[in-house]
Amino acid sequence: MGLKNIQMVDTKTQYLKIKEEIDTAIQNVIDSTQFIQGPAVKKFESNVEKYLGVKYAIGCASGTDALQIAMMALDIKPGDEILTTPFTFVATTETIAILGAIPVYVDIDPETFNIDINKIEAKITPKTKAVMPVHLYGQPCDMDPLMKIARKHGLFVIEDAAQAMGSKYKDKMICTIGDIGCISFYPSKNLGAFGDGGMLTTNDEKLAEKIRMIISHGSKKKYYHETLGVNSRLDSIQAAILDIKLKYLDEYCEARYKAAMKYNEKFKGIFETPYIMPGVKHIFHQYSIRVKNRDKMMEFLKSNEIPSMIYYPVPLHMQEAYKYDYKPGDYPVSEEIAKDIISLPMHTELTDEEIDFISSKVIEFNSIQ
Ligand SMILES: Cc1ncc(COP(=O)(O)O)c(C=O)c1O
Repeated sequence: MGLKNIQMVDTKTQYLKIKEEIDTAIQNVIDSTQFIQGPAVKKFESNVEKYLGVKYAIGCASGTDALQIAMMALDIKPGDEILTTPFTFVATTETIAILGAIPVYVDIDPETFNIDINKIEAKITPKTKAVMPVHLYGQPCDMDPLMKIARKHGLFVIEDAAQAMGSKYKDKMICTIGDIGCISFYPSKNLGAFGDGGMLTTNDEKLAEKIRMIISHGSKKKYYHETLGVNSRLDSIQAAILDIKLKYLDEYCEARYKAAMKYNEKFKGIFETPYIMPGVKHIFHQYSIRVKNRDKMMEFLKSNEIPSMIYYPVPLHMQEAYKYDYKPGDYPVSEEIAKDIISLPMHTELTDEEIDFISSKVIEFNSIQ
């Protein structure tokens, strides 16, 4: 017997639990008609600053924009090299390419799926300007050695924390360690808006001032433009929704962590369960494991009405638009993992019954391989 309606992400039930609060917050913004850079944005920014323990948090229109704006603020120019992982969402590399800079990929660690710290230094050249680690699936990169390498070589660090809002590395929140942190509030994220949204964080006053100008056409004073800018502001309605949800973020991360531990319990001795680096708080934006015959497993799960996803099937050095002079075989760890990784349903509303059913079907398929 199956279970109906298992979702990859269930934002609807999550919303219904706090519907009144959210609906009131939205109506308040509508009543105020301060839709752009209104008090709701300021309030949310200030609450994120407190939550993360960072001096400046600046809203923008998406996580993708946050990455581009971070590089603009750091004066990244055409031809500059940015070190990053090939095993990530396309936005990480797309924004580097848009600025005419070059993504120089560093292969990943097979346990954490994050940039392999031991392979970074070999890729540094006189053109390298920054490192962009991605805290994939909600697990922080190993930031202490990464920062040490970056400082030794005079490189900026831009944390792509699109998937990691709420996670922690030792005693520091993710997004407070590098020069700039970039967050996505895409609806399925641990802190998800009801549309697109993003944020930049920094402890550097000058950078914060520049970021504030860039998000608003490069101007501090209306119609006076001091620097190259874009139009990328966080909508007041999104900020109001996010400000309500921020209060529940730790609870949301805890629910995902509990679901991950429940999967782990079921898969013990059968699959290698997700590695958690000692000293970090992993927030399980995704629960991903490596399996045999992955594509057939996905079909089998689908026939049992269980959704699953591949994050990500093609490493970026093999994507038509971003392959530069790279070729298959250049990043063997990423390539191997892309072939057999699968992400199972993961969200705040997963029930024990659903996890039992999903894991039993994953195990059933595996046993006949
Ligand atoms: C690693 C990573 N970077 C950047 C982004 C871009 O964020 P957004 O969708 O808000 O533009 C995402 C979004 O999914 C992501 O997963």
